[in-house]
Amino acid sequence: MIKEMSPRDGLQNEPAILATEQKIALIEALAETGLSYIEATAFVSPKAIPQLADADEVMKKIKKKKGVTYAALVPNRKGMERAISSGADEVAVFTAASETFNQKNIRASIEESFQRFSDVFPLARDRGMKVRGYVSTAFVCPYEGEVDPIKASEVILRLLDVGCYEVSIGDTIGKATPESVSRLLDRIVKETTADRLAGHFHDTYGNALSNVLKAMEFGIQTFDTSVGGLGGCPYAPGAGGNLATEKLMDALHAQGLNTGLQTGKIREISKMVRAWRT
Ligand code: HMG
Ligand code: MG
Repeated sequence: MIKEMSPRDGLQNEPAILATEQKIALIEALAETGLSYIEATAFVSPKAIPQLADADEVMKKIKKKKGVTYAALVPNRKGMERAISSGADEVAVFTAASETFNQKNIRASIEESFQRFSDVFPLARDRGMKVRGYVSTAFVCPYEGEVDPIKASEVILRLLDVGCYEVSIGDTIGKATPESVSRLLDRIVKETTADRLAGHFHDTYGNALSNVLKAMEFGIQTFDTSVGGLGGCPYAPGAGGNLATEKLMDALHAQGLNTGLQTGKIREISKMVRAWRT
């Protein structure tokens, strides 16, 4: 399954702030391509990510298509309350495998981030909302360098343990390789099942597709991508865009796999978002 990140991971890193109506148009167009999961926005501090300051309005105004899950990132109780009142279908909490990145990104230690999530889960449970988890810098941290797979595994397992149905393993700055992916997955698939894991590979150095293919060898079938390869994190110097949705789609189709995506529509949106950058 492909989980589309462009309206969130993509737009959070664009220097230009799109108009609310443009964001809504992007999300509605994505929903017509066969994608069934769209991370539509993030209910984070508008000071931290001004590009997504209109998250509430975006989530409220999109015309939802049946069968599509509209998800959003939430860092704390306030974010969760905004997600609920705006009508998000699902939320995702996020932490990291390295302390320095987590401090820069959400001004919290890894431990503190879990304390914040303990406010999010009961609210989600009461409303039957699913909670996804992210572990950033699972392979390399822009501040601390290589991350020990033991540390990354601990955080992944803890997120599953506290109630995430799935954890997306983040290569935030695109420095993972098929070898480092193997090292981490070798360890983690013994502790949980592949269907509770996803891959979130940034494509800074062109490794993302090889990393996905490696992760597929371990049975992982869910990957996060962005049309046009948009993406990055303002708090992770050197982070390039996500693996492009069209790049993964083409690779999977070449293997004879059915993604359910309409290639023409995906390419059209990719062209549109690339044009925003020129
Ligand atoms: P803080 O400053 O420590 O928070 O930020 P605080 O609780 O002390 O609150 C400070 C102010 O923020 C207060 O407002 C709060 O009300 C407000 P003030 O009194 O100053 O007017 N505030 C909020 N406002 C709106 N929504 C909220 C919210 N929470 C507090 N939810 C905080 C802590 C986590 C809020 C902040 O650091 C933040 O929002 N960080 C988000 C950074 C971010 O979005 N990074 C990118 C996403 S992560 C990513 O891209 C990685 C990923 O793609 C995977 C990968 O690639 O590895 C997922
Ligand atoms: Mg990301």
